[in-house]
Amino acid sequence: MAAVVSCVNRLLAHIFVLLVVLMDVNGNRVKHKIYEDIQGDMACFKRFNGTQEIGCTSKFSGNIGVVHVVESKEDLVWVYQRGPHQPYVLAITPRFLTSEVLKEAQNSGKVSGVVVMVEENKLDLPGGFSGETHCPNHELGLYNDSSQSEYSGYCWKEPWNPNGTSLLYMSWSFPIFLIDNETSINNIRDYYKTFNEPGTDGEPRSWPLCCMELKSNMFGTTNTEVCMRRRTIATSVFQPVNFCDPLSDYNIWGSVKPMNSSEVTPEKSVIIVAARMDAATMFDNISPGANSAISGMVTLLAAAGALYNLKDDIMKSEVEKNVLFVLYQGETWGYIGSSRMVWNMEKGDFPFKHQEDETDQISQMNLTHIDSFIELAQVGQGMTPVGSHLFLHTDPISNVDPEIGNETDTLLNLLEKYANSSGNVKFERANGDAPLPPASFQSFLKRVNISGVVITDHRDEFKNSYYESIFDDYRNVKYTSENESQETDMYHKHISRVAGVLASALYTRLTGNSKVIKADEKLTDDLLYCYMKNFSCQMFRDYGDRLPRDLFSDKPAKMYVSVKGGEGSRTTLTHLVFAKLLGEKVELNETKCKTESLNQVHQLYYFASLNNGTCVMSTVRKTEAMSPAFLIKDYNWQSGEYSTWTESGWQLTKAMIFLKPSVAEEVGLVCGGIASLLLSLALVYFMNSRADLLFGLTTPPAPC
Ligand SMILES: *[C@@H]1O[C@H](CO)[C@@H](O)[C@H](O)[C@H]1NC(C)=O
Ligand SMILES: *[C@@H]1O[C@H](CO)[C@@H](O)[C@H](O)[C@H]1NC(C)=O
Ligand SMILES: *[C@@H]1O[C@H](CO)[C@@H](O)[C@H](O)[C@H]1NC(C)=O
Ligand SMILES: *[C@@H]1O[C@H](CO)[C@@H](O)[C@H](O)[C@H]1NC(C)=O
Ligand SMILES: *[C@@H]1O[C@H](CO)[C@@H](O)[C@H](O)[C@H]1NC(C)=O
Ligand SMILES: *[C@@H]1O[C@H](CO)[C@@H](O)[C@H](O)[C@H]1NC(C)=O
Ligand SMILES: *[C@@H]1O[C@H](CO)[C@@H](O)[C@H](O)[C@H]1NC(C)=O
Ligand SMILES: *[C@@H]1O[C@H](CO)[C@@H](O)[C@H](O)[C@H]1NC(C)=O
Ligand SMILES: *[C@@H]1O[C@H](CO)[C@@H](O)[C@H](O)[C@H]1NC(C)=O
Ligand SMILES: *[C@@H]1O[C@H](CO)[C@@H](O)[C@H](O)[C@H]1NC(C)=O
Ligand SMILES: *[C@@H]1O[C@H](CO)[C@@H](O)[C@H](O)[C@H]1NC(C)=O
Ligand SMILES: *[C@@H]1O[C@H](CO)[C@@H](O)[C@H](O)[C@H]1NC(C)=O
Repeated sequence: MAAVVSCVNRLLAHIFVLLVVLMDVNGNRVKHKIYEDIQGDMACFKRFNGTQEIGCTSKFSGNIGVVHVVESKEDLVWVYQRGPHQPYVLAITPRFLTSEVLKEAQNSGKVSGVVVMVEENKLDLPGGFSGETHCPNHELGLYNDSSQSEYSGYCWKEPWNPNGTSLLYMSWSFPIFLIDNETSINNIRDYYKTFNEPGTDGEPRSWPLCCMELKSNMFGTTNTEVCMRRRTIATSVFQPVNFCDPLSDYNIWGSVKPMNSSEVTPEKSVIIVAARMDAATMFDNISPGANSAISGMVTLLAAAGALYNLKDDIMKSEVEKNVLFVLYQGETWGYIGSSRMVWNMEKGDFPFKHQEDETDQISQMNLTHIDSFIELAQVGQGMTPVGSHLFLHTDPISNVDPEIGNETDTLLNLLEKYANSSGNVKFERANGDAPLPPASFQSFLKRVNISGVVITDHRDEFKNSYYESIFDDYRNVKYTSENESQETDMYHKHISRVAGVLASALYTRLTGNSKVIKADEKLTDDLLYCYMKNFSCQMFRDYGDRLPRDLFSDKPAKMYVSVKGGEGSRTTLTHLVFAKLLGEKVELNETKCKTESLNQVHQLYYFASLNNGTCVMSTVRKTEAMSPAFLIKDYNWQSGEYSTWTESGWQLTKAMIFLKPSVAEEVGLVCGGIASLLLSLALVYFMNSRADLLFGLTTPPAPC
């Protein structure tokens, strides 16, 4: 009996091996006509909020379609009216990345995917391109539709981003890939010309046709509530599966004067100077944010550095004021970072819960400690031939209060004074009866009335034609340096000028004295170059010399907020640079240069590459920027109070292009495969039973 079982086992094993070999042969038959992988790392992916899903996904095994390059409207009409070989993958130029084109593609039922071919220096986008809505962050802002404020409908009438397409917030039933690799684009065009392009009379070509496979299957579905519930079940029962993860990163901040918990922080003494440090696009791995994020962020860093150079004057001063510089994260997705900071302040655990047994702790801070708020929003397009021209926006609701109105006025006067005396910066008050543009400041104003100003390059609608899009890059702000520290560029001078005016105003607030401060132009240029052109620049490699090499790529920084454990290099480097700018050198060697606890007033940072090893003591630190919605027990996901954005999990995304034979040929292949399977089974059986004869083996005694 055992012998029989063993024989059957052996036979089964043979069959299995053969099956595998055959399937492989069959697979290879089809696959041998594959041309190649093309760039597939910039796919549109899915995100979810409390009520809906946005973005794209492919089927589990990927979507396949016949390539059709779209250069004109006629090419689209051809696909919908004449093309017989559906489904198609449309290869479009950025001009066709509009909701009309994508909706038509979706409704036609003839399109299984879209690739957007972006060629360097071939931008042809009259009217710009913005993936955002007309009123970015409106629902989670101060003037939302349910706020009952007289300004709640303002943006719908006078949109901040009138050319916004809302593409970022739409959901598509097919994958969309962005391709900017020249080789890949040329391949698509070449194979299309050779195999697919219809004749001059529009006559379709016959098989074989060039096809594309796009694979970007997303694990999450429906909305954040469903997705988070699944995630909990999955983590507790099986091994972790990333259905979706909350968007999350770190706010980075530091104060000019140390905040020691043993000294009382006076009420209304802290001036918050803020900028946001994230931007977004529809696609993975690309989010340049040159004007939407980097312009304000670098201005803030430059101002912080310039002000801190005068720390001796500031520390000596009797004026009980302090400045907190903050870079907020995740602001694109419903003010994640700023709403989290406000939430912690209200709970009384910002920045940390007080520890009984620790000395030298940083003091706690809440909303009563805030004096005023200065925000640097988009300032990148405020360059004029003679200098800089920016606008000062204020909140008309809180300024109704005479005291707050007066404080705001004082703040604006101070900024204008230094702008005037600089000679080439003009600060102009925007319409005082208009609400604030999208700004982190709104998260605070939802909870407390404080004076403040948002500085931007636009009075009414955005100047930025490419808000939250792949084209908001160095070209959008006319940055021209090809290398670090090139003095011919005008943009970094604009940013430095604005930073200088801000630093001067802050100096006066901190000391009561007047002083005209200039920001370091080399520093701004290096920072701009590193963020907008080459993340692997000398400055970042010096500051981040202990970080893994693969964090550095010679592309622009990716400004997307991402998820916990996601893309963190931009946050890490910004943290280090910020710490150095707002810190002082101390004589400690590498082993001693370590912070004992995150609660400490001062944090220590070691830079091995700076002057053969430098230890810096700084108040700069980071705190989590994840929406409170994920921390509040039984949060109502539909309420819309806090951001609920999550990002789907996925495995590698991939794109390839290949030549597909006709259906008849494929059927032939499969039938041939089955026939050869049967034949070989017979052969195996025969060989097995005659093995002794065929291979001259004697039948083993037992078993078999
Ligand atoms: C989810 O996003 C959509 C589109 O932006 C928006 O209309 C809706 O209000 C959001 N829902 C929540 C709960 O935030
Ligand atoms: C709308 O804004 C008001 C204050 O302006 C705020 O209290 C409220 O929470 C906001 N509503 C939502 C749903 O975000
Ligand atoms: C484009 O893709 C090819 C092939 O994958 C690769 O060799 C090349 O380095 C890529 N070019 C760029 C600019 O990334
Ligand atoms: C904090 O204040 C206490 C008491 O004044 C002092 O002993 C300590 O050195 C201070 N710590 C720092 C880091 O300044
Ligand atoms: C804010 O902090 C002060 C002192 O640090 C405290 O007296 C006050 O109760 C706090 N306010 C709130 C609203 O937590
Ligand atoms: C505003 O401030 C100025 C001086 O700082 C003061 O003279 C004036 O009375 C204040 N106005 C109000 C309404 O508080
Ligand atoms: C700045 O200059 C403008 C006009 O050039 C003037 O209207 C304004 O009063 C000045 N502001 C200050 C604070 O000097
Ligand atoms: C701010 O002041 C306005 C007008 O005085 C008032 O309507 C509003 O409720 C206040 N907001 C907060 C958060 O206290
Ligand atoms: C929006 O589009 C209009 C019409 O195409 C154009 O004139 C305007 O400059 C665009 N605005 C921006 C900010 O791009
Ligand atoms: C400019 O780039 C070259 C390499 O292309 C590099 O060797 C040089 O040091 C750079 N100059 C500056 C000032 O960074
Ligand atoms: C660092 O300094 C401490 C004393 O301050 C000394 O004991 C230690 O050996 C030094 N470490 C190195 C690596 O030099
Ligand atoms: C760094 O160390 C090298 C060799 O140990 C030395 O030649 C150089 O002068 C040092 N540089 C500084 C800035 O200390």
